[in-house]
Amino acid sequence: MNRIFSGVQPTGNLHLGNYLGAIRNWVSLQRDYECLFCVVDLHAITVWQDPAQLRASTREVAAAMIASGIDASKHIVFNQSQVSGHAELAWIFNCVARLGWLDRMTQFKEKAGKDKERASVGLYAYPNLMAADILLYKGTHVPVGEDQKQHLELTRDIAQKFNNDFGVEVFPIPQPLILGAATRVMSLRDGTRKMSKSEPSDMTRINMTDGPDDIAKKVRKATSDPDLLPGPDALDAGAVPEAARQARPEAYNLLGIYAALADKPMAAVLEEFAGAQFSHFKAVLTDLAVAALGPIGQEMTRLAADPGTVDAVLREGAERARAVAAPILDEVYDVVGFLRP
Ligand code: TYM
Repeated sequence: MNRIFSGVQPTGNLHLGNYLGAIRNWVSLQRDYECLFCVVDLHAITVWQDPAQLRASTREVAAAMIASGIDASKHIVFNQSQVSGHAELAWIFNCVARLGWLDRMTQFKEKAGKDKERASVGLYAYPNLMAADILLYKGTHVPVGEDQKQHLELTRDIAQKFNNDFGVEVFPIPQPLILGAATRVMSLRDGTRKMSKSEPSDMTRINMTDGPDDIAKKVRKATSDPDLLPGPDALDAGAVPEAARQARPEAYNLLGIYAALADKPMAAVLEEFAGAQFSHFKAVLTDLAVAALGPIGQEMTRLAADPGTVDAVLREGAERARAVAAPILDEVYDVVGFLRP
């Protein structure tokens, strides 16, 4: 059976990268898979979170999923800390994963910075918890942005090692689904940096709740370059060659955002804007972004005023998630050799 698991951290403003790299793909995938979508609050506290802000962000991420079109009556939308199995399975995986595997994780190096002695142990073990999230439900497919690829490789290694160590076939080896034209949305001010919640300047990202004026301002001020936009001859076998992307990172980032929002292949977008000025392209991109995000932002604002509805979705989702997880965790405990009542 195919089952999707994916998650978003409640650690600040959701942005266009989260939407195009993840949430929007979930909305289409829910037609073909049984899905669990999780607000990963246990992951969030690997760096300091103000408790009141964490509560608000948890509701906001859930609201974004619902407002984007996730059907919480058919699929499971919940926050991680309401299902204790995540933490329980993560402990077992702390004992399966090797230090050497975690030492290679680039996200830890980026997030811990120079002073890694001061990073939390949780931040280091973060990928083990992520493996537990997916495997607690025997998830088979994981739709994410490009930046999560390495963590998913670790999840596969953990599943494989657990199965080998105990001589069982308990866990599937989950497949990443990295889909669409914007799997790695870059900052609007610097095309070599990822669009991120933690970037101090709000001008680097389009937030899912930004209104038309903010979107217009941010796109207008987005860094570009002095040349006209490239045409389809820039492509090699339908893709932008890495060298071309590196030469014009901002141009290809904006074109990729356009392609993803318009749901068109990059070749069609390059055809459409070949030789155009950035000013013209940015105006069209603004209209498209406003049309795509406007209704979602409005629905998020409406849900923000109605936390009871969001809390009820999360409560009910957690109940259903616990029911899926319980027999799987029992099976794992039995395989490991824990005595059960
Ligand atoms: P998080 O909260 O950083 O991001 C949520 C999703 O958004 C994608 N994303 C992007 N995609 C394209 N361009 C960007 N600039 C961009 N920024 C973020 C991420 O790839 C992700 O899909 N570790 C995960 C959360 C997690 C998880 C899981 C995901 C915890 N457990 C289990 C899948 C399965 C994270 O920090 O995502």
